[in-house]
Amino acid sequence: MTVEQQPTRGIVLAGGHGTRLHPVTAGVCKQLLPVYDKPMIYYPLTTLMLAGVREVLVISTPRDTPRFEELLGDGSRWGMSLSYRVQHDPKGIPDAFVVGRDFVGTEPVALILGDNIFFGSELSRTAQEAVAGNNGATVFTYPVNNPSAFGVAVLDAQGSAVDIEEKPAAPRSNLAVTGLYMYDNDVLDIAASLVPSARGETEITDINRHYLEAGRLQVVQFGRGMAWLDTGTHDSLLEASMFVQIIEHRQGLKIACPEEVAWRMGWIADEDLAALAGDFAGSAYGAYLTELLA
Ligand code: G1P
Repeated sequence: MTVEQQPTRGIVLAGGHGTRLHPVTAGVCKQLLPVYDKPMIYYPLTTLMLAGVREVLVISTPRDTPRFEELLGDGSRWGMSLSYRVQHDPKGIPDAFVVGRDFVGTEPVALILGDNIFFGSELSRTAQEAVAGNNGATVFTYPVNNPSAFGVAVLDAQGSAVDIEEKPAAPRSNLAVTGLYMYDNDVLDIAASLVPSARGETEITDINRHYLEAGRLQVVQFGRGMAWLDTGTHDSLLEASMFVQIIEHRQGLKIACPEEVAWRMGWIADEDLAALAGDFAGSAYGAYLTELLA
């Protein structure tokens, strides 16, 4: 199904200290760690691609931004445009809209956190429809058994948001607000006006509350047939890798392969994919890309 696309910019926020994963993240940031057979950032990046977003800004630390640039390049080989900005201090998720202000310009913007992994057949269509239909802000919820670890949405019987709280001690629903957000251009000014919370950072939940209070927050509920995986601890990171391994072994298809997504989206041609496969000659990844063309 093709949905009319609004020109939306995308941001992947891949900063932070990764403290909970030390010492693994002492020398390299979390979003460059492998999730099974590819770097973690491939997962959120391809989620934006599946939403139809071709112009993406990657924001990371002074140390890691050059590494992302080395890994991902300017995006042209995937029919995209990728650019990079440094976030000097982890000041909170909304800081992505301060650091990325020039990049967003006057466009709507989709933000994804660099450690968020989504998988499921409804992902592409749902995300494309949200890009096309966003009027204010759109957030995506997912049922979890530990909602206090996340932003939590409280919905009425019609599925409209009545409240949204950041890491509530006594959550009023099991619906976590996932790390994929779509906003109109007002988000730039809203982000610039926020004050830090008790944890010393500005909160994405405060942006979402702003839209909620203005009656302009839409909530899309990802169902139980989707997977939204956590990567914040050693155990959850290993589990995410095993999840990807199991699905890929069973199906013979890869999750979050940017070359494949670009090709399926029609952003690159068969001969481009063949050339990209050649760059990975001698690896299972390269063989996979070649097989796609067969
Ligand atoms: C952040 C947000 C939270 C959201 C989560 C999704 O939490 O603050 O609302 O549910 O990302 O991954 P943090 O990763 O900062 O703990």
